Parts: sequence; C-alpha cells; structure tokens
Amino acid sequence: MHLEIKNLHTYYGLVHMLKGVTLNVNEGEIISILGRNGAGKTTTIKSIMGLAPSSEGSVILKGEEITNFEPHEVAKKGISFVPASRGIFSTLTAYENLKIFHLKHSKWNIDDVFKLFPKLEKLKFRNGNSLSGGEQQMLAIGRSLVINPSVIMLDEPSQGLAPMIVEDVKEMLLKLKKEGMSIILVEQNLQTALDVADRVYILDQGEIVFEGKSQELSKNKKLTLKFLGVST
Ligand SMILES: Nc1ncnc2c1ncn2[C@@H]1O[C@H](COP(=O)(O)OP(=O)(O)OP(=O)(O)O)[C@@H](O)[C@H]1O
Ligand SMILES: [Mg+2]
Repeated sequence: MHLEIKNLHTYYGLVHMLKGVTLNVNEGEIISILGRNGAGKTTTIKSIMGLAPSSEGSVILKGEEITNFEPHEVAKKGISFVPASRGIFSTLTAYENLKIFHLKHSKWNIDDVFKLFPKLEKLKFRNGNSLSGGEQQMLAIGRSLVINPSVIMLDEPSQGLAPMIVEDVKEMLLKLKKEGMSIILVEQNLQTALDVADRVYILDQGEIVFEGKSQELSKNKKLTLKFLGVST
C-alpha cells in the first residue's frame, strides 16, 4: 500500500467532522472521494496534508508515519495538493509559477510539464490572471508535479470547466497514473470519477459509507441516489 489513512478523526472546534475515515491508495492507482457538499471531502485531504490536524488516527506513506506533519513536510515527503481555488500567482507568468516551486531533484522538470500539457507551453509567458479556468487548472497540476510527489490530491479539478477541458484533465490524470503516480481525486461529478478512478469512496457526514470498484458503484443506482443525489 502506498498511502494508508487509518481511522482519522478531525474536529473543527467542537464539531466532530471526520469520524474515523479509513482509506488507501496503491502505487499507480486513482481513487476518488465522492460525497455531497459538506460531507468532509476537502477536510479529508486537508487532514492528510496537515492543514486540518487530526486528533486521532494515522497517515502512513510508504510505511512511514507522517500524521499531522507540517504541510511543507508532508509535501517534502511526496504528497502534493491541488486546491479547488488552484492558487495560481496572478502577477507571475505560467513559467514563473512553475519555476518557483520546482525542486532541483524532482523527477519532473518544467519541460516535462510542458510535454504533459503542450497547450501550457504556448502560454508560458502569460500572466496567471490572464489564463482561463482550464489553463489555470493545468498550471496548478503542473505546479504540483515539479515538487516531485508520489501522490497527488486534487480537490474538484473539473469544477467550472467546460466538458472538453474536463476531458483533457481526465486524460492527463490517466497519463500520470501510467507513470506510476498515486492519485486522490475529490469529485462532485459522479461520471468524471467513474471514468478515471479504479476505486471510489463515498463520504457522508464525515464517515465512509461506501468503498468499492468504480464498476460496482456504477451499477448501484440506489446508493448513488441516496448519498450523491444522482443516479448513474
Ligand atoms: N475551517 C473550518 N472551520 C469550521 N468548519 C469548517 C472549516 N472547514 C470546513 N468546515 C465545515 O466542515 C464541513 C465539511 O467541509 P468540507 O469542506 O470538508 O466539505 P466538502 O465535502 O469538501 O464539501 P464541498 O463539496 O462543498 O466542497 C462543512 O460543514 C464545513 O462548513
Ligand atoms: Mg470541498
């Protein structure tokens, strides 16, 4: 198991948000976390990242316990996080946005990112604030690669993107998977998750209520209706 999350409990003040979340990701596997608004999806990845510290449970990467490490230490260990807000520096160019994060020892350099996203290379001298939502998403993913992760966690990368761009994002995730990347994809869109994920988890009120192969979930209309409000 590449990344193991065991029995994670996280509080916001007195609110018990994550109530024993357990999940895992293999090397070169894509898992998706689904669930309604407020289910605790973002909190789960923030807890893994050390941004929302947990009171109980553990995060184990390649056998090493990294629970509640500082976010920059978690990143150094090889987990990167692409937030829903994308976090692109608006007054820096696309190239500069990559350059400031690039670590010398990284397996991924800036040219590799451009190979993965040929469209991005054409935009490299454009400022962050002049990029479209889809272009910013590609840049945010590119930036998460140049820190040399073995796991990337994406918070709703397809949000607000046109269907054609969502296809680009899906294709790119599958390319990364082929290279052995472990991917945690938080999604609202059931179909997007089913299209790329090997396995899916459904979170509801801070608890995992389903875990299984994508094919299993796509056949279970009752479950998707109950917990996601949609049917496949
Ligand atoms: N920093 C915080 N302080 C207090 N409550 C918070 C904080 N962050 C999130 N919450 C609350 O915790 C709950 C879970 O939030 P979370 O962001 O994990 O949900 P989510 O599943 O990602 O939802 P969405 O699909 O809307 O992004 C929500 O009720 C939210 O209001
Ligand atoms: Mg969220």
